[in-house]
Amino acid sequence: MIDPRRLIENLGLKGVRDLTILIVVLVLGFAGAVVGVGLYNVSARADHFPGVTWVLHTTFRNSVSLRADETPPDDLSTPGMISLGAGHYEQACAECHARPGGQQDATVEEMLPRPPKLFSTELSRWSASELHWIVYNGVKMSGMPGWPAERTDDVWPIVAFLRSAGEMTPENYAAATGGEERGRCAMCHGAEGVSTNPQIPRLDILSSEYVAQSLRAYREGGRDSAIMAQAARALDDQTIERLANSFDALGPSGSDGIVDAKQVLRGRALANAEGEGRTPSCSACHGPWQHRLNEAFPSLSGQHAPYLAAQLRLWRDGPRGGGQAAELMHHAAENLTDNEIAALASYYASRDPAPINP
Ligand code: HEC
Ligand code: HEC
Ligand code: HEC
Repeated sequence: MIDPRRLIENLGLKGVRDLTILIVVLVLGFAGAVVGVGLYNVSARADHFPGVTWVLHTTFRNSVSLRADETPPDDLSTPGMISLGAGHYEQACAECHARPGGQQDATVEEMLPRPPKLFSTELSRWSASELHWIVYNGVKMSGMPGWPAERTDDVWPIVAFLRSAGEMTPENYAAATGGEERGRCAMCHGAEGVSTNPQIPRLDILSSEYVAQSLRAYREGGRDSAIMAQAARALDDQTIERLANSFDALGPSGSDGIVDAKQVLRGRALANAEGEGRTPSCSACHGPWQHRLNEAFPSLSGQHAPYLAAQLRLWRDGPRGGGQAAELMHHAAENLTDNEIAALASYYASRDPAPINP
């Protein structure tokens, strides 16, 4: 150990005060040289000084555990959540973190820190809420980006996927993300727009006007979804029109087969505002109808229940966004309880899809 009294004597200083001043001057001088003169080498080719990597990783680990506090949903480990997560991973993360059994791109390998290959990383050291925190917030000064949306619920599919990464073979991954026709959209929504994943909306039951308006809203950030922002950001107006018409042209088919008859009846009563009148009549705007009131009002009949419920919670709890008429829905959903939302979602999901162009 250095003895401060000997140090003061040897340096010919007069007391502790002088020593403090000397230390402050040296530290400021060093900081000045690093910042002002450019002594610190920012090259990503030069590794950190010994010990710095340890300090950074320990800080990262502890910072995440201190802050992670979101509670995972009950349906976290369902196949629908995992495959939606796989789809988003393919669009947004695979370039940096590689695919199962795949290599990292040569340029990504030169990042410092290098993005870990997540399929060969021990991810079980993180809890579900810690993974949620990392994916939502990103990691400052590392190249790991934050989540490009305000809402936090749509991070869970990615967490579900990461937690199953240990069992992901190249074949499973290809099956979850493959889909050649209509490219990227088909990977999640199915080649005909009839998604079989209850977390992902069917598009075949929607009017082309509503689909186009939604895609523009995702592209411009008017509707809050990181998953769809990633898919829609690069679409130009012409492509949006073409895509919107292609789903519409196919026409509706099949329904969700919801079984809980009690919930369905309760939902029907609510949708028709037969109760205390606390909720406005959903059917006035959403049908079931013979003739659609307005092309901007989406049909809900035959849509997947978990998706409908998630949208209603978004409206009730914060900004879901959408097209020009979306404000109407904030008002319609503001007083709904979780049980009412579940009943309404079951009711609409149990119905056969309505004709798009009667
Ligand atoms: C531009 C490259 C890049 C992209 C895109 C990216 N990441 Fe990362 N990610 C990184 C880097 C770099 C780190 C390492 C951070 C560190 O160790 O300080 C990291 C770290 C992580 C970690 C922590 C791993 C561990 O055990 O330490 C997780 C989990 C993760 N990323 C998930 C994702 C997910 C999910 C996506 C897509 C939504 C994504 N990343 C997109 C670069 C990227
Ligand atoms: C990684 C999976 C994924 C991909 C790829 C994807 N989507 Fe989506 N899509 C979703 C999810 C999840 C939602 C629900 C988002 C939300 O909560 O707003 C959605 C919502 C939509 C909606 C709104 C539907 C409604 O009922 O309001 C439209 C329209 C849509 N997607 C079209 C497309 C098109 C067109 C493409 C291709 C350019 C595409 N999607 C690519 C997963 C995906
Ligand atoms: C005054 C008309 C109006 C009323 C009443 C109304 N809605 Fe809506 N709803 C809309 C409009 C407009 C949209 C489309 C918003 C957007 O994305 O631009 C919408 C969208 C939705 C969506 C999202 C559909 C999708 O594919 O993403 C759900 C779910 C929904 N409404 C459920 C309900 C329920 C349940 C009720 C009754 C409690 C209700 N709505 C009452 C006008 C209405």
